[in-house]
Amino acid sequence: MNKQIALIRGDGIGPEIVAEAVKVLDRVAERFGHTFSYTEVLAGGCAIDATGHPLPQDSIEKCKMSDSVLLGAVGGPKWDQLDGSLRPEKALLGIRSALGLFSNIRPARLFAPLAHACPLRPDIVAGGLDLVIVRELIGGVYFGERDTVLKNGEKYAYDTMGYAEHEIERIGRVAFEMARKRRKKVTSVDKANVLDSSRLWREVMHRLREEYPDVEYSDMLVDNTAMQLVRNPGQFDVIVTENMFGDILSDEASMITGSIGMIPSSSLGEGTRGMYEPIHGSAPDIVGKDIANPVATILSAAMMLRYSFNLPEESDAVESAVSQVLEEGYRTADIMSEGCTLLSCSEMGERIAALV
Ligand code: NAD
Ligand code: IPM
Ligand code: MN
Repeated sequence: MNKQIALIRGDGIGPEIVAEAVKVLDRVAERFGHTFSYTEVLAGGCAIDATGHPLPQDSIEKCKMSDSVLLGAVGGPKWDQLDGSLRPEKALLGIRSALGLFSNIRPARLFAPLAHACPLRPDIVAGGLDLVIVRELIGGVYFGERDTVLKNGEKYAYDTMGYAEHEIERIGRVAFEMARKRRKKVTSVDKANVLDSSRLWREVMHRLREEYPDVEYSDMLVDNTAMQLVRNPGQFDVIVTENMFGDILSDEASMITGSIGMIPSSSLGEGTRGMYEPIHGSAPDIVGKDIANPVATILSAAMMLRYSFNLPEESDAVESAVSQVLEEGYRTADIMSEGCTLLSCSEMGERIAALV
């Protein structure tokens, strides 16, 4: 199989972790007889430095011409003072929106050998942890009307959260279909006790659940969900929620798996072209030290193989290689515990690639 992959290495640790995922993809290509070719795409802070804009038009075109996009991370302190519309993060939002990637899947799974890295009491995660957050990605407050104006002699800034029925329905469907392939349980998370947009969210979800009588459905308020995630994370199978709630809850869920460096993501629209990225950011505090955990990016590449290229065997091979490395006691600094062997970012990537 021949596939063209757009590589957005980005900023901070982005280039370090993407390099490791490429090693793994190259190994997959070699072992299974595929050809993956890469197009370098500029986006984020590095694009601002090179072109003055976080997402040049040419970068969007390159993503659209590729079979899929693999992204490291964008942003960093160097660009924090820029106007909102010119920040590196705008590139990420721009690609998600330009490609219509409304469905962001963030699986949080506690690998058994990492039980020690989980900050929760052992009895809380005794039954393991395997949940998926289905996050709506191109609507809500991230994309609503916003401005900063002068009001009563001072600055006043606002961002608005809104959802159309069809936007809620299509992400709801993704969650129900996913639950059918898993433990058949959907928790829809909202703030329907306060927000109109959440009340519409709940109304549409309730309509949809009639079509999926085989799936157990419940509503949960987002504040309670934040608490339940650390009280009893095993109760969740598929969580479906709007853009910003999903952003926040997925960072929280990631920590239960030991580190934010462990959680991959896929972002898809109607077709098979997707963007794949770790859920974490550019980690400016550890950049250039070769100590970042590349596993989230490598697992994102595995999701790309499965969802965009329909290569389940290849995807399984990558995920098994990650499990095996962890079972053998190899760790990056963020998940290190006593008796384990500490690896750098590049050593971790090489070891995983060698096991594919
Ligand atoms: P962050 O996720 O970059 O870092 C939070 C903490 O987690 C830091 O201590 C960092 O060292 C650690 N961490 C993150 N990834 C790690 C990894 N792979 N291995 C080991 N440790 C890891 O979040 P932040 O500090 O709030 O944001 C930094 C910048 O990244 C900001 O500019 C933000 O906007 C941007 N950001 C980008 C993305 C993205 O590109 N998808 C996502 C989140 C944040
Ligand atoms: C993420 C990030 C992004 C988001 C930012 C950098 C725009 O936090 O992918 O989780 O909020 O979606
Ligand atoms: Mn985030």
